[in-house]
This record gives sequence, C-alpha cells and structure tokens, in this order.
Amino acid sequence: MKLSIIGSGYVGLTTGACFAEVGHEVLCVDNDEAKIARLLKGEIPIYEPGLSEMVLRNVAAGRLRFTSDTHEGVRSGDVIFIAVPTPPQADGSVDLSFIEKVAREIAPAIDSYKVVVDKSTVPVKTGEKVAETIRRYAPDADFDVVSNPEFLREGSAVADLMQPDRIVIGVNSDRALARMQKVYEPFVAPVLVTDINSAELIKHAANSFLALKISYINAVSAICEASGADVLKVAEGIGMDKRIGRSFLNAGIGYGGSCFPKDLAAFIAIADDLGVPFDLLKEVQHINTRQLDRFVKAIRDSLWVLQEKTIAVWGIAFKPHTDDVRCSVAVDLVERLLAEGARVRVHDPKAMDKARQLPIAGRIEFCESPEEAATGAEALVIATEWPEYGQVDFAAVRAAMQAPLVFDGRNLLDPLTMKRFGFNYRGIGRAPALPLS
Ligand code: UDX
Repeated sequence: MKLSIIGSGYVGLTTGACFAEVGHEVLCVDNDEAKIARLLKGEIPIYEPGLSEMVLRNVAAGRLRFTSDTHEGVRSGDVIFIAVPTPPQADGSVDLSFIEKVAREIAPAIDSYKVVVDKSTVPVKTGEKVAETIRRYAPDADFDVVSNPEFLREGSAVADLMQPDRIVIGVNSDRALARMQKVYEPFVAPVLVTDINSAELIKHAANSFLALKISYINAVSAICEASGADVLKVAEGIGMDKRIGRSFLNAGIGYGGSCFPKDLAAFIAIADDLGVPFDLLKEVQHINTRQLDRFVKAIRDSLWVLQEKTIAVWGIAFKPHTDDVRCSVAVDLVERLLAEGARVRVHDPKAMDKARQLPIAGRIEFCESPEEAATGAEALVIATEWPEYGQVDFAAVRAAMQAPLVFDGRNLLDPLTMKRFGFNYRGIGRAPALPLS
C-alpha cells in the first residue's frame, strides 16, 4: 500500500521504516527541512537498535522516501498517519496544536478517499476533533479518521513494531477498516478493532497501568526496607501469579522517560476534564516522587552532609539501551545532589552526548568509564541499570573510591557480592544488612 507518515520523529520514522520493511511504499514527511535533508543523506537523527540499517535498506530498495511537503504526503498516500508530538502543557494536559495544524494542512490536499490515522498519543475524543477540523476546511473531502495508537518502547522500538503484542484499530467505517487490515496484513499479531474513543483511551489506560505497577512495587519496597524483607523476592512471589505477571515489578528510583510521566499527567487531566477525577493516578505520581526523595535521604543519611562530597553516578539515560535523557530520574537525581553541593562525576555508556546538552552539564564532571567516575568518590550511585555496570572490576572500584558506599537505585547488583568486595551496599527495598552466608 501507499502510506504517508506526517511527522518523522521517534514514532513516525520508526513506524515508516517498519512499514517499508514489510513491503509498503512509504513517504515520511516532516516540516523540519534540516531533518529531511539529513535523512535524504542517510543520516538517522535518533539512536534505536536496527533502525539505521532498516532505513538505509528500504531507501535503497525504493520503498522509503522523505519529503518536507505535507501536500505531497497527503496526495501520494492511501493512508495518512499522523505522528507529530503531543507535548504536555504546564497543567499536565496535552498540547494538541501540532495535531490541529496537521489536520488543517491535510484537509485541502485530500483529492480522493483517504484514511487519516492518528498514531500520536492523544486524549480520548481527539479523533472526533480531527474529523471536525478536516471537514471544516474541506467540507467535500472523502475521508475517515482512525485511531491506531503506538505501544513501542524506546530501545526496542523496531522489535516492538515488527512483533507487537497487539494492534489496536479504532475505526467507525468498514471502508477504513478494510484499508487498515491491509496495512497490518504482513504483521503476525492479534488485531483488536474498537470504536475510535476506546482505542484512544487504551493508550493512556495502558501506560498509566504500567506506571501504577511500578509505583505499586516501589511502595512495597519502602515497606520491605522498614520490615527487613527483600523486594526482589516479594516481586518474584507476586509475579508468579499469572494474573499479575513479573514484568514491570522492578523497584527502583522511579519511572521516567518521555512517555509515562507525560501520559499519566495527561490521563489525570483528561479524567478531570470529563468530570471523573482519577485520584489513584495522583498517588502513583506521588509514590514516584517519594521514591527519589527516599533515595536522596538515604544518601544524605549516610554521608551526613552532601556539600563538597564527591559522588559517582553510573547511568544518566532514563533506562538502559537508550541515549535518551528526557525526563530521566537519573538527571533529577543528579540535580538534587548538585543542589545540595555535591560534586557529581557521571558516566553513561550511550547518553553522554545528550547529557552534555543538559542545563546542568556545566556543573557535572563527565567521565570516560565507570571506574574513572568512581575514582575518589565518597559514594557510588547506580541510577540506570546498564548491564555492563554489573561486569566492572569491583575490587578496582573499591580501591579507587575514598569510601566504600554504594547506593544501587536499580537493584542491579547482588548485595552479598558487594559486601564481599568490602562495600557498604544499599539497594532499593532490600534489607541493608543481609547475612554473609
Ligand atoms: C513506555 C511503554 O512501555 C510503551 O508501551 C509506550 O509506548 C511508551 O512508554 P518507554 O518509555 O520507552 O515505553 O520505557 P519503558 O521501558 O516502559 O520504561 C519506562 C520507565 O519505567 C523507565 O524509567 C524505567 O526505568 C521504569 N521502569 C520500568 C521501572 O522503574 N521498573 C520497571 O519494572 C519497569
């Protein structure tokens, strides 16, 4: 099929590449001409495993093209995907101005039956607004609006798109559904067909539930610390119940990234707007903030004052296998340590370049290796669970540090092993003094 993607950012570009990979003819559109120029030269603006190769392969095969002309995008596609940003506003509600603008731009270019698909994460009832807008600017246009939310995770976006858990298609016409089924025919995944409002709601409800799961185990981790239980064992025991499942029960310093905090705030604002406040989700947010508060307090309690203390922080990305530092709890943590006067030495295997663009960059010491970051440190903090941090030479790290304190904010390391290396180890939700044997 001929598909156009309006918005060639994280979701748009990855989705476009995967559609091309399964044989569709894809035109990726972006109003950022510099970005399109880079893509035309074969430069991929984001890091995502397998994406670069996939883009280049499909460009070479003639199935993937780029343009900054939205009209061209609308005219050439049977299905037009909208994948523009939906950033949060100060009150947590979603800024839909990019979506509205694209709807206005699409309208006059519709010259035959088009299916306009919303892929961006949007509040329930946005599809209705998109349809209204197109109709306002092109009363005779022949089109249907569809909601087809994206569930990809950063770091495994290509795999998530190629082998999705499910494909949700929110649609109110058979003609549009037939086209969408053709789009997804090459993918082996269950397809859930719903009305448009339900599809839109699924995205916010799913992400909020995942955040709730994380906050739940984080709240349990505080009880584990207070009672001497081990949250890893508790999570294992809970997760063995098939109705609950083990995933997203990793206690830590909280969830971050460009989706969960934003989507949770949006869902709260949507519920408020509809007159049905969702206070449970406000508590999910509070637990997430408190988790970092508790962690910083544990560091402060051990070091007494943080002023002039040298602290090594391993990991600055919001999670492993990505270079993304947006809404990273690791960044929040570093800010908190700096605010209390600590000297912070940071290492991250992939996110150093992005971290160097942060407002706090000038106040951080960037180190080439985890060992270098730990040199002279009075405490070592693990903020992102990169697997390589489990493989370092801890005897050397111990020798290089001024004091053997380790705060493992992601429960990456084994407490007993760390104790054997001579560290005073604190994880999340794990009793501080575990027996040696
Ligand atoms: C998430 C959703 O998983 C995805 O379906 C949606 O489309 C976008 O949002 P992403 O933001 O890429 O994807 O990251 P994810 O792997 O879900 O992790 C989000 C945050 O939760 C990270 O900060 C991670 O460290 C944290 N997390 C995750 C935990 O603290 N504990 C867990 O058990 C799992």
